Amino acid sequence: MAQLKAGYLFPEIARIRNAHLEKNPDAKIISLGIGDTTEPIPKPITDGMVAAAAALGTKEGYSAKGGYGPEAGQMELRKTIAEKLYKGTPITYEDVFASDGSKCDISRMLQMFGSGRKIAVQDPSYPAYVDSSVIMGHSTGFNDAVKQYENITYMPCGAENDFFPDLSAAKSAELIFFCSPNNPTGAAATRAQLTELVNQALESGSIIIYDAAYSAFVGNPDCPKTIYEIPGAEKCAIETCSFSKYAGFTGLRLGWTVFPEALKFSDGSSVRQDWTRMMGTSFNGASTVAQGAGLACLTDAGLAAMGDMVAFYKENAAILKRTWEEMGYKVYGGTDAPYVWVSFEGRDSWEVFTEILDKTDIVTTPGAGFGPAGNGYVRCSAFGSRENINEAARRLKESFSK
Ligand SMILES: Cc1ncc(COP(=O)(O)O)c(C=O)c1O
Repeated sequence: MAQLKAGYLFPEIARIRNAHLEKNPDAKIISLGIGDTTEPIPKPITDGMVAAAAALGTKEGYSAKGGYGPEAGQMELRKTIAEKLYKGTPITYEDVFASDGSKCDISRMLQMFGSGRKIAVQDPSYPAYVDSSVIMGHSTGFNDAVKQYENITYMPCGAENDFFPDLSAAKSAELIFFCSPNNPTGAAATRAQLTELVNQALESGSIIIYDAAYSAFVGNPDCPKTIYEIPGAEKCAIETCSFSKYAGFTGLRLGWTVFPEALKFSDGSSVRQDWTRMMGTSFNGASTVAQGAGLACLTDAGLAAMGDMVAFYKENAAILKRTWEEMGYKVYGGTDAPYVWVSFEGRDSWEVFTEILDKTDIVTTPGAGFGPAGNGYVRCSAFGSRENINEAARRLKESFSK
């Protein structure tokens, strides 16, 4: 804990936003900062959630699903996730473990693998990978000169390599975190790129922890929605995913992680079996009500509603991307992801973040908060009401046009 630098990125940004509000009490802040959803959960899904909650008030409902549930989640939910989201892949329902979300699973996974592992991450990446690794004792300290934690391999992803890293740096890594579409750059990896990743992991014996939290935003047919579309991935990859960004469950909490049966440690023992043991010890099952809502997400009406919600946020992303481009900036992402990654050509990203906040009352996220290679960029989240996104576009044009 003592090795960690400052606070977790998003609480830190919230603190700066609150300080700005204290100084400027009339400011009408628009948040394009933390990637939190804004649109209400669609009715076919809340109907499922309400029914699950109401059932807990009946004798039959309570005896069926009240009390502690299975740590891996209700069988019906696991089966439906496997059937609807992993069809055509080697994944079965026994590989799917429902949980209270991906962030929590990432932390539990690092706990399970034990301290001192060699870890590789995309740079920039979702801060929970590095911070949880440091908390679990995988690092030996922070190197101020390079702004990186020791014993963690940072694989730079920038415009110069089309946001796909040189994987050779991760050859000796035991665990490789890989997020596609990536938070924060918005880059979605192609089939060829993921094949390269899987083949290297198979060869070097690394385990990939693939974060698919934004896979529903992928529109490009050349970019897989799950890593298990790549042959051999079931032997080297764990995949974590979540209803948070698909259905507005950021507060409700429901996600899942896939541990394929074929994934083994080098001594032949089962990774899935360890995860079962881990969850049995540290988790008591996702909330019954959230699981009822999750099942409703996977009905035809639920899937259609989630599709509409994703399309709405993607349109927001398109508006933001177009705005920055029209203003003369180089912009990445925003097509297969709800994040727009704006280049400020090497300028200090905290300084740009502060300037945007001061001039427009808009909260963004400084790229450096996601790793040293994120410096020079800011991330704009497309989660927002259409009114706020349009207003943000207007304010940005007013103050930041080149
Ligand atoms: C890449 C990535 N993974 C995981 C999460 C967390 O998901 P959950 O809400 O399921 O914990 C987020 C949330 O922003 C994310 O950006």
